[in-house]
Amino acid sequence: MIESNLKKYSQLETLNVSRETFPALEEFRSLLLSENKKINLISKSTEKESINRHIIDSAQITDIIDINTKSCIDLGSGSGLPGVVLAIIFKKKGSKIKFDLYEKSQKKSNFLRKMVRHFKLNAEVKQKNIFEERELEADIIVARAFKPLQTILELIDKNFVHYNRLILFLGKSGKGVINECLKSWKLDYEIIESLTDANSVIVKISNLKKNMKEKIISIINQKGGVGKTTTVINLAAGLSLNNKKVLVIDLDPQGNATTGLGLSNVDQTYNSIYQVLSGTKKINEAISKTRFSNLDVITSNVDLSGLEVETADDRRRAYILKEKLTAYLNDSGGVYDYVLIDCPPSLSLLTVMALVASHSLLVPLQTEFFALEGITQLIKTIDRIKVGLNPELMIRGILLTMYDKRNKLSGEVETEARNYFKQKVYKNVVPRNVRLSEAPSHGMPVIFYDKNCPGSKSYINFTEEFLAQEESFETAA
Ligand SMILES: Nc1ncnc2c1ncn2[C@@H]1O[C@H](COP(=O)(O)OP(=O)(O)OP(=O)(O)O)[C@@H](O)[C@H]1O
Ligand SMILES: [Mg+2]
Repeated sequence: MIESNLKKYSQLETLNVSRETFPALEEFRSLLLSENKKINLISKSTEKESINRHIIDSAQITDIIDINTKSCIDLGSGSGLPGVVLAIIFKKKGSKIKFDLYEKSQKKSNFLRKMVRHFKLNAEVKQKNIFEERELEADIIVARAFKPLQTILELIDKNFVHYNRLILFLGKSGKGVINECLKSWKLDYEIIESLTDANSVIVKISNLKKNMKEKIISIINQKGGVGKTTTVINLAAGLSLNNKKVLVIDLDPQGNATTGLGLSNVDQTYNSIYQVLSGTKKINEAISKTRFSNLDVITSNVDLSGLEVETADDRRRAYILKEKLTAYLNDSGGVYDYVLIDCPPSLSLLTVMALVASHSLLVPLQTEFFALEGITQLIKTIDRIKVGLNPELMIRGILLTMYDKRNKLSGEVETEARNYFKQKVYKNVVPRNVRLSEAPSHGMPVIFYDKNCPGSKSYINFTEEFLAQEESFETAA
């Protein structure tokens, strides 16, 4: 019986797995099957064909892993497929690869530990939820039947500081899944047909970067005091609470977004956006951390008001921000999910720079008299920029701010705006709420200052609407 089973492994010889390894693989399989009576390791219906379906299937990536690789992480190792199989094979090869087997279930981890001891593998079982681990490193990451590809890519992007290659086992819809991912990720990949299942594929991925499309957003309205900065600060905070990494760029010499996020716009300790735009500092040197997690800022101060005059001779000055920002974002490989730019209340050079650098715009509209008049002028400017400098620019949405339920005018402006801009106007409106004007003096987004006030609730709901909007972009794309 055993002899005839061993024969079934002979396919592995073509992948440089030696015959001497087969008995160990077969022993692992029989331990797996006997444990499967007690805990659910593999589906019962696959037990009969487990040599092909599980062992050979896992082993088939052997020849795409370099023997000199130092470390390999198996995401959601489960029953040790492929982690234990690979660790057995590479041990026999005399390789020094260290395998980290991540598995959060205790029962499965216990099984994995037994296997590691039994076969004396160079492997460690990490009974942890990998999504809670940070700064992970591995030369190779493998995953088989773990999570959907999008989720895995997000995990790699957020939680890994280093990896060379990702090797994934994808099911029937493998190629379609990859195409779907290419909409939001830049990556190099190679698809390999599965040896054991004509419908499945193995995919090798490297150089993973998030596509920044739609993610640089300017909050703009040339009218003063309409809630631009308040929206930047609180949307940024709302996104950060949704686990998105956000960079706020304060592009207003008033520096209100800077102080509203708890940094100073007078002392010169920080490099500010002025240094970046005048060419003395790089973006990465000008990014400051705030006290809030996932939320960084490039500060601003009054120096910025000199930029227009100082760059008067530079014909390409409208592109300065875009060039620096794109170069930084490309190099950094998608550290941020969103960049929010707070614009000054004018249609000056700074605003033009923001329009040129952005993928989309968010326009806060104060629900008061004449609110729509200013918008017409803004739209003309946007159209001019689209023709000349940034054809892809679009208005992502219009947010009604300082809404006063008791004031008839608010309702009228709302109706007019919705009639005119239709679905571009967000369903959520921001009410007039004194807490919103108090929070900046404490250097805090209102949703951290008083999370239950009406202003906070409106910005939290607005953030959800903003994120949901993105899902609809993705399905439309
Ligand atoms: N919904 C609101 N309810 C009450 N006060 C608000 C609200 N939104 C903003 N404010 C307050 O109104 C003032 C102007 O808001 P904000 O600074 O956000 O506008 P802005 O458009 O960025 O202004 P500027 O054009 O000067 O940059 C601030 O004092 C702010 O705290
Ligand atoms: Mg402002």
